[in-house]
Order: sequence, then structure tokens, then C-alpha cells
Amino acid sequence: LHKSPDHRNLVLPKPLLAALRGELTPRVPIWLMRQAGRYLPEYREIRARTPRFFERCYTPELVVEITLQPVRRFGMDGAILFSDILVVVDALGGEVEILEGRGPVVEPLADARALERLSAERLRPHLEPVYEAVRLLARALPERITLIGFAGAPWTLAAYMVEGETSRDFHRARRLARAEPDLFARLIGLLIDATSDHLMAQIEAGAEAVQIFDSWAGLLPETEFERWCVRPVLAVAERVKARHPAVPVIVFPRGVGAGYRRFRDEPAVDGLSLDATVPLLWAREELAGVCLQGNLDPIALLAGGAVVERETDRILDALAGRPFVFNLGHGVLPETDPAEVQALVERVQRLRPPIDPARHRPAGEAPDDRP
Ligand code: CP3
Repeated sequence: LHKSPDHRNLVLPKPLLAALRGELTPRVPIWLMRQAGRYLPEYREIRARTPRFFERCYTPELVVEITLQPVRRFGMDGAILFSDILVVVDALGGEVEILEGRGPVVEPLADARALERLSAERLRPHLEPVYEAVRLLARALPERITLIGFAGAPWTLAAYMVEGETSRDFHRARRLARAEPDLFARLIGLLIDATSDHLMAQIEAGAEAVQIFDSWAGLLPETEFERWCVRPVLAVAERVKARHPAVPVIVFPRGVGAGYRRFRDEPAVDGLSLDATVPLLWAREELAGVCLQGNLDPIALLAGGAVVERETDRILDALAGRPFVFNLGHGVLPETDPAEVQALVERVQRLRPPIDPARHRPAGEAPDDRP
């Protein structure tokens, strides 16, 4: 696989795992959400040969190849399993497809009868090819690179299941949650079982860290946020930690603003992934005690060059002196030039002289006179 320049191995065997465990790493580890996918010509080639999305997800050799593609090219510190949050919905028996140019299409779940047809029993047998891929990857990856498993959070999965397709505001899903909270709570309960089981199966197959994607958490107002995002996500994280206490859990509650604070003091949450709107100096103060991850705007990669350099340095400076994982604020966009990703990874991975936080302040921050 990737022949890494020596400096990448100088430090710890796995800088990403070290940071997620709260260690200050001599250089900042990096991986990118959606680092595998359509912006890579080698992915598009596989897609042309195997056009059904779920067929790609359920063929272990393809999953291994697609997962390794970005790591081979760019040498990130993490390899995220190529899969999708919706494989869990498929495994439960929800009719789901991912169509080119349209995204996910799901048979909308509207009543208790539809809910009763779903079953968590099929989960492990149905997703066995995914776990087989994880086992193969655990063997294939170089020692420096951390294998990341993932699942969708219950709210985000429920949002697709009720809405039936992607949406700007998920009206139908939010209406069902308000109008029939007991039914919605049963759906969320089933998804807590399914996603925690899916994460544990990935860990048992060799995943070394896991991320819970709550991509639509930002749509929920305060009380709904607590009920449908915070509590279910913590339930999943706690179940995983009870069985696998050493495996870091990263939570990505996209778009929740000050709601990020709800995850900062939770023993089951090791990493908190910030979307691009979160002010970093606020996060530095308010979200101490957890490893932060993020938060370059994926659009900056489309502008490229100096825009990426300036933003990258600003992010690295803002989180200097803290355990930190460099990532985007959301996934890599299909229009992204792979050369920009290459330059980004190189910039983050080059060894910078350790910054003394007492002497170094990000631009614009007032001097700190406290003892
Ligand atoms: O990050 C990675 O490289 C691993 C693979 C991965 C995919 N989906 C592959 C994929 C991951 C981690 C996901 C997560 C995912 N899937 C999320 C959470 C993260 C986020 O983006 O908010 C969500 C909401 C989904 C659901 C989903 N899957 C959508 C909305 C779409 C269509 C939008 C799009 O980008 O096309 C997908 C399809 C999908 N999942 C693709 C890939 C590579 C593109 C389809 C294709 O390759 O043909």
C-alpha cells in the first residue's frame, strides 16, 4: 500500500487513535468524511462496472478496494469503511435504494403496521458481507492507519425512513415525531438497537474507532433535540462503550450549534466532530474535555489553493495544544479536485514545530491575562 514518508511514522503507530484517546499528538492526524467516492476516477470506474450502490456495499472485495483508494492515494491517518448509513435500513427490511442523481429513496414508513414489519433479527446475517470486508481491511491496512466504522444516528435514519427521500427540511419526519411521538419513539428504539448492534459487529470484525452520523440533528428544536438526538445517540454510544470500552466513539451532530455542549462531558463520547459553522474559539473554550474533529468547509476545497491553505492553518492554530483530528465540516463533494485533497493532507501532516499555547494566539484573540 501507501509508502509513507518517514515523518509520518516518527511518532506513534496510530496518531488518530492517540488523539481520540485524548493524547496530544506531535502532528495532527487527518481523515475526511466521504474520502471515498465520486470525486475519485478510480471509484467512478468501479461504479460504472457495478452500478447498483448496495451491490458495491455488499461485495467485500469492492468494499476493501474502495475503502483503500483514498488511503493509497493520499495517506490519510484514518480509513473509513466504504458503506452507507442506510445499509441498516435495508437490513431491517425497509425498502431502500440509492439512485444516481437522486440519492436515497425509501418506502415511506407512516404507521405502526409498517413498523411491525421491520425486524432487528436480520441485521447481522444481512450485513455479514460488510463485516467480512472489515475483517479483510483490518488485515490489509498499514499499522499507522486507523480503521473507522460508522453508523447513522437513530434520528437521521428515522428521518429518511419516514420522509422516503432526502429533503431540505424533512417535514414529514418532523411532523410524525410531533404528532405520533409514541410511534416515533418505537421506531427510534428499534434504531437504537440496530445501530448499536451494527457498530459492535464492526468493532468485533476489526474497526478501531466508530463515528455516529447525525446529519440532520440541526433540524430539531431544543426539546426535540434532546429527545430524538441527544438521548438516542448517547444510548448507542453507552451500549458500545459498555461492551468495548477502549474503542473511541466520535459523534457528529451536524448543525446543532450550542447543542454541541450536550456531548462534551459524556464519558461515552471520545470525539466530537464539528460542522463548518462552529466557531473554533468558542469550541476551544466550551468543548474542553473531548477530542475535537473538523471542520474545514468542503466548499473551500472547491475554491482550492490559497483558500484551503489559509483556512487549514487557521483551524490548526485555533486547536493547537489540544488533542485534535483534522477533518471537513461535512463530506467531500463530488466536484472536488483530488489534487486539492492531496495538498490538504500534505499540509496537515507536515510536522509543524509544536506551538506553545501560552505564546501563540490565533489571530484576533485577545491576550489572556489569567494566571
Ligand atoms: O465517508 C466515506 O468515504 C465512507 C462512505 C460513506 C458513504 N455514505 C458512501 C456513499 C459514508 C460515511 C456515508 C454516510 C452517509 N450516507 C450519511 C452521513 C454523512 C452525511 O453525508 O451527512 C448520509 C446522510 C448518507 C445517506 C446518503 N447516501 C445520501 C444522502 C446519499 C446521496 C448523496 C450523494 O452524495 O450522492 C448517499 C449515497 C452515497 N453514499 C454515495 C457514497 C459514495 C454516492 C452514491 C454513489 O457513489 O453512487
